[in-house]
Amino acid sequence: MAAAPSLVLVGAGRMGAALARGWLNAKSKRQITIVEPTPSDEVASWAAAGKVTLNPAAAPAGILVVAVKPQQFAQVAEAIRGFAGPKTLVVSIMAGVRIAQLSRRLDTARIARAMPNTPGAIGQGVTVFCAAPGLSAADNETVRSLLAPLGEVHGPVDEGLMSAVTALSGSGPAYLFLLAESMAEAGESEGLPRALAQRLARRTVEGAAALLAASEDGPEALRRAVTSPGGTTQAALDILMDTGGMPRLLRDALRAAATRDRQLSKEAD
Ligand SMILES: NC(=O)c1ccc[n+]([C@@H]2O[C@H](COP(=O)([O-])OP(=O)(O)OC[C@H]3O[C@@H](n4cnc5c(N)ncnc54)[C@H](OP(=O)(O)O)[C@@H]3O)[C@@H](O)[C@H]2O)c1
Repeated sequence: MAAAPSLVLVGAGRMGAALARGWLNAKSKRQITIVEPTPSDEVASWAAAGKVTLNPAAAPAGILVVAVKPQQFAQVAEAIRGFAGPKTLVVSIMAGVRIAQLSRRLDTARIARAMPNTPGAIGQGVTVFCAAPGLSAADNETVRSLLAPLGEVHGPVDEGLMSAVTALSGSGPAYLFLLAESMAEAGESEGLPRALAQRLARRTVEGAAALLAASEDGPEALRRAVTSPGGTTQAALDILMDTGGMPRLLRDALRAAATRDRQLSKEAD
């Protein structure tokens, strides 16, 4: 049987380290190399135990996973060119860097581009990926398995959808954090001590998310189930769902995020 292609991870920050941790836990047969100028203690311990090779001289890899910040990419691309050859499968998790840009800078057409989200750092994320036209079904399967440590994986989708994906799931965790913050502040305004209001808001968001995860019903059915006509929840929802309320605000917010993503992609040209 042919050996699994070598795997090079560039950038072992929060997301990159979560990927590598997952590959190691899954006892991947691939030989894993990490390129990272400032390895964390965890990454250094993997290298010391011989589980990964850290910062070797460059040679073309079977698979190259790029997990640096997008603003670092132009500079990093020069440094890592030696790890990419025409046969290298490149998987990027950088926000906003398009397939064409990756292809130009890394000199390969075999590219997949993914948008994870921050819960991926604890394996609870959702990632969507798009793929260059030449990638085979087997390549896409490889991409899916490489991203699996971050959580659920969807794709390949059309690259044109990635700005909307970024606006929804990429930036989405921040919307939920804001919701928890705003609920705590509102509870405080209603007279609750700050610490209790913060705790109640946090546990409510955590518990509601866990209930949604455990339930076969969708969010709309769960919302209806806690809303008795004429009751307290109804009184609040009448405001949240009014014209200009939450659905409208979120539509505007996601549109702004998607527009910003398109602008950032252009600026990176
Ligand atoms: N949708 C989302 O919410 C979301 C969430 C997370 C991540 N992402 C994407 O995932 C990517 C990684 O994010 P992150 O949070 O994991 O970032 P991070 O924690 O900053 O990790 C990036 C790592 O790359 C390292 N690095 C810098 N220059 C390098 C070089 N020349 N060679 C190798 N490594 C280098 C950095 O080292 P230094 O610290 O020394 O610079 C850092 O450890 C980003 O592109 C981001 O857009 C998206």
